[in-house]
Amino acid sequence: MTDWTKEKTVEYITIQKHLHTKEKLGEYYDEWAPNYDQAVSSMGYIGPSITSNLLQKYVNSKNALIFDVASGTGLVGEVLANSGYSNIDAVDGSAASIDVARKKNIYNNLYVQWLGGDNKLNINNDRYDAIVCAGAFAYNHLKSDVFPELIRVTKPGGYILITMRTRWLRIEATFSDGKLEADMKKHEKERKWKLVEKKVKEEEDSEQNVVTFVHQVC
Ligand SMILES: C[S@@+](CC[C@H](N)C(=O)[O-])C[C@H]1O[C@@H](n2cnc3c(N)ncnc32)[C@H](O)[C@@H]1O
Repeated sequence: MTDWTKEKTVEYITIQKHLHTKEKLGEYYDEWAPNYDQAVSSMGYIGPSITSNLLQKYVNSKNALIFDVASGTGLVGEVLANSGYSNIDAVDGSAASIDVARKKNIYNNLYVQWLGGDNKLNINNDRYDAIVCAGAFAYNHLKSDVFPELIRVTKPGGYILITMRTRWLRIEATFSDGKLEADMKKHEKERKWKLVEKKVKEEEDSEQNVVTFVHQVC
């Protein structure tokens, strides 16, 4: 196994800005899947723990049905399972990442699917008590066009937690100059969901700052 130091991981992440298609992004994550967990732990990735801590504030029942969107190899699911949540499903576009996640035996249903555009989830309306999505709103990753599907599969009163690096709000063209938050507000004006919390975790290196948006579905 390659030794994934912090430097090597940071360098590998910078490649993402050259991955302009879903196919290229898929190859990138498929190739990374066996080493992803080791790599991101070397750089102190805290997205899963931030997400889990916030979920516990909003969803008390450990039997609640949770959907880990863009789960990757299942790091968020692992933290949720360690916190006692026992009904978790996952979706990700990278088949190799979903294979790694499957082997952890923490998810009930796992789906391999790219989200966005016209791609719809083969999941009933109002199914989940909460959606968690960590590290997936980024350059050429998930965009605001997935919001309607996320809202559709979440129960009224349920929560959608999106955790992301603040720097993507600047770098990704469809998020920059407030566009991502404007798209969130558009759905709020249409009474599809309501922002209940926006929390920024500041890091020593501000490029690593993390923001979580918690919306409650109407
Ligand atoms: C940085 S990883 C985060 C994985 C996991 N949530 C975590 O916190 O470790 C981003 C994940 O988003 C997935 N992804 C990116 N764009 C996607 C899309 N449009 N549809 C489905 N999955 C997507 C990638 O395959 C990758 O596994």
